[in-house]
Amino acid sequence: MQLTQKERMYLTDAKHHEELCIAKYNHYTEAVSDPELKQIFQRAGQQETNHLHTVEQILQGRIPDTTSQSTQMQAPHVPGGGPTRTVQSSSMTGRLSGAVGTGQSALGMVASHTQYTGQGGLSEEQICNDLLTTEKAVSDMYDSAVFESSNQQLRQTLNHIQKEEQDHAFAIFQFRRTKSLLR
Ligand SMILES: [Fe+2]
Ligand SMILES: [Fe+2]
Repeated sequence: MQLTQKERMYLTDAKHHEELCIAKYNHYTEAVSDPELKQIFQRAGQQETNHLHTVEQILQGRIPDTTSQSTQMQAPHVPGGGPTRTVQSSSMTGRLSGAVGTGQSALGMVASHTQYTGQGGLSEEQICNDLLTTEKAVSDMYDSAVFESSNQQLRQTLNHIQKEEQDHAFAIFQFRRTKSLLR
């Protein structure tokens, strides 16, 4: 498949984003102590590795079948079942991409609860906040890339990756939400 100059530009950008995501998830998996959060980060990190391979293959002119390699991101377990189980994922995804700064969106809520620990390291909350911001930026980038793609198969592949980025953010968001409910 021949890529246009614009497609190549976006894919090169995507490659760097995926490399950064892999590094962040690897690093943060070691940094957090909560086993559930570790698992969320590990799963997301695995998917970022798949994304990187996919993007690299496309840059070499091949579009792999992404549907066969996807691993489902699971929502964190809520002990005893909780109100979070009834939350509609579509509305929560909407909140993630909603207005920032109102205190109502996922990112806004994270920011308002974040405090600098003053101890040099990042708190668990700050780590989640950083990852939510990163996933939002990456998802936005894929969204633009889809709009700039001239090939239907490429659009579908990028769309699939973008959906998984949204799932990563949603899993982190739900973890935070569950933790704050249990506090
Ligand atoms: Fe990714
Ligand atoms: Fe991601």
